This record gives sequence, structure tokens and C-alpha cells, in this order.
Amino acid sequence: MLPEGARPRVVLGVSGGIAAYKACELLRRFTESGHDVTVVPTAAALAFVGAPTWAALSGKPVSSEVWTDVHQVPHVRVGQTADLVVVAPATADVLAKAAHGLADDLLTNTLLTARCPVVFAPAMHTEMWEHPATVANVATLRSRGALVLEPAEGRLTGKDTGKGRLPDPAEIFEIASGVLERGTGGADLVGRTVLVSAGGTREYLDPVRFLGNRSSGLQGYALAKAAAARGASVTLVSANVALPDPAGVRVLRVETTAEMRDAVVREAARADAVVMAAAPADFRPAAVQDAKIKKSSDGSAPALELVQNPDILAEISSARFRPDALIVGFAAETGDHTGSVLELGRAKLARKRCDLLVVNDVSQGAVFGSADNEVVILGADGTCVEVPHGPKSRVAHAIWDEISRRLQP
Ligand code: CTP
Repeated sequence: MLPEGARPRVVLGVSGGIAAYKACELLRRFTESGHDVTVVPTAAALAFVGAPTWAALSGKPVSSEVWTDVHQVPHVRVGQTADLVVVAPATADVLAKAAHGLADDLLTNTLLTARCPVVFAPAMHTEMWEHPATVANVATLRSRGALVLEPAEGRLTGKDTGKGRLPDPAEIFEIASGVLERGTGGADLVGRTVLVSAGGTREYLDPVRFLGNRSSGLQGYALAKAAAARGASVTLVSANVALPDPAGVRVLRVETTAEMRDAVVREAARADAVVMAAAPADFRPAAVQDAKIKKSSDGSAPALELVQNPDILAEISSARFRPDALIVGFAAETGDHTGSVLELGRAKLARKRCDLLVVNDVSQGAVFGSADNEVVILGADGTCVEVPHGPKSRVAHAIWDEISRRLQP
């Protein structure tokens, strides 16, 4: 953690890919939010974006090699004094050099001398990303605690499309800020596989109508992003969410509770932790009409017969596909004559047989669609952690803190 009021010192390494221009936006986000940024481009990066751009945007001189200002020993100082190093874009070449400890320019020297968290945001063609050499280098870097984001999918430099695009600069900034906030313990979920569900399911009446709910998916997406930022391999089962795919997260799209159940049950077998942040509909129409239901001429409305959906959380909690896995549920409660919000939460925790229950008090108004949240995390071990009102990303990290503490070493 940084001392109160200190300006975090960020080294922005830029390596030689066309996505170097996108690092300008990342740089702006860092400087405008009060970070002290030193840009260290490689010589190849300067072929894409020149030193004057980096110097003007960072307000600092820019150097690629170790022969400038030698008396200040830059090849050691830049890394030693950094609170965070972010390499964006990270080419296959720079990942290889970092994995093997090569140090032939200022950026690679900095990567060897830095003792702070390091985030790589790769960008390259799909073939290069999937090459066994790159796969092995990424695995090596991750095993050492570096955070290597998954590239995004989409249009690449040429006419081709695929995996290899630089993640969105706003995403990189958000993840890097989270790592910086938590200090060197940033990558506490490295080697863990986690499963998060998000959004609200839809239960169709006919091809155009459905029963749905107001879940925005924001808290589930914040959980997925936070887990990825802490180094986990994340699968997100997403139901009807209008948010962009988080960088470095495998997203499985579903619509109905039955589809969500199948995806969660299938994936849960591999997961160290399952977080059910989604709002699966408890009921569905007994039958889905093939054709659109028409209004009747006599003004009568059709009766809707509903049947109950599977309770996914209860099912995975009693099946315990992996006895060592942590299972986390959510509960939006209002409290009533049968008990307070916390009493109802405790009862639900026992009923669903999960390990943690994140309880939302929604009696003062809904949290749906809001950027903030305020929760209490109840543990089956009797613990009760209050997470004060704040951004859903902070709530997400508080939840992962509780999960991380309980995962078997
Ligand atoms: N959940 C689930 N499958 C369902 C419904 C809910 O897995 N069919 C999960 C949610 O993802 C959440 C938790 O169960 O993690 C609590 O959801 P909630 O709607 O509060 O639970 P209910 O079972 O509907 O509780 P109640 O008895 O209050 O109706």
C-alpha cells in the first residue's frame, strides 16, 4: 500500500506493435488521475509513436536505452523506484525477453529490477499468441506473479480478425489501478480457476416475450474483472448483460436459468471458487409457444402457468463437485416480520449450504444498475464482514479477499 497522499509512480513500458498508439490513451488516464508516469518505449515502439508524444503526454523525458544519463544509473533506478510497471502493448518479443530475463534495453532492464507488481497487456497476431513459445512464456510470467492479461478478440492489424487485440485502454487502466491499490499482493489468485455468474435470466413465453428481472450484471462483471486482475483464470457465465466482455475473461453467454444451470454445473467441476452473482429466474412458463401469442378478440388474457426452475446455487452447494472449492451466493433481502436482513441472510446461507453469502439490504432502494453497492459477507464459519458503501469494483475485491483467505494453499 502507498503512503497516504503519495503520487503512485508508474512505469509505462511500450513495445513495438501498432497498438502503441492506444498506449497514449492509457498514459493520459494515468496522468489525469494523478499518477507520476515514466514512459519507457522500446526502439521498435518509437517507430510507431515518437518520443515527443510520450514526453509531452507524460511531462517527462523519454528514453529507450541505458546509455542516456548513465550517471543516474537509469537501468536500475527506473525499476527500483516504480510502484507499478505496465507494459502495453506487450509484444511476443518483450514477453519472451521478460520470461527469460534478457535485458538489452531500458524496458527489459526495468522489468528485471522492478520489485513492484507488473502488468502485461499483450497485443499480437493470433498465431503469435497461440504459438507454444508464447504460451510457455506467458505461463512462466504468470507463475512468477506477473499479471498477463488475455488479449481481446477482434480486428487485427491486417484484414484478419481473431484473438490478439490490445485490451481496451480503459480496461487496462482499471485493472492496473486495482493492482496498484492492493500493492504487491495483487496476484493472490494466480493459478486459481474461478467461475462467476452475472446478469438476469430470461424465461421465454414465445419467440418475442420473456419474464426477466432488473439485474444489470455490474456486480458480477466487477467480480470477474477483479479476479482476473488478481491473476485468476476466470470464466463468466453471463445472462443478458449489456456490458463489454472484460479483458482476460472467458465469457459464456446464456439466456435462461436452465442454460445457466448447465453451464455452471459443467464449469464448477474445475473451479476453486464459484460466485453466483446472477439473478436466475426462479420460475419459467410451463410451455414456450412456438409462435407469438396473439390477443384474443373477446378481450380475455391468457393464463400463465409457471413451473419452478432449478436452484443452481443449492445444487452445486450440495453436490460439492470439488470438496475444497469455495461456493459463494448472493442475497437481496429487505427484512420482514419473520426476521431482520441479517437473520434472513443467515437462514438463506444455511438453506443454500454455501460457504459465503453476500447480503444486500435492498429495503432503502434497489442496487440494480447502480455503480455502487454496500454488502455484508456472511460466512458459514460464523463470520460477518461489513463492506461499506462504495464502487462495485471495491465490493468485488472485498469479496475476493474473503474467498482468497479461505482457499486451501
Ligand atoms: N440462485 C440460483 N438459482 C436460482 C435462484 C437463485 O442459483 N434459481 C442463486 C442466486 O444466484 C443467488 C442466490 O441463489 O446467489 C440467492 O438468490 P435468491 O433469489 O435470494 O434466492 P431464492 O432461492 O430465490 O431465495 P428465497 O427463498 O428468498 O426466494
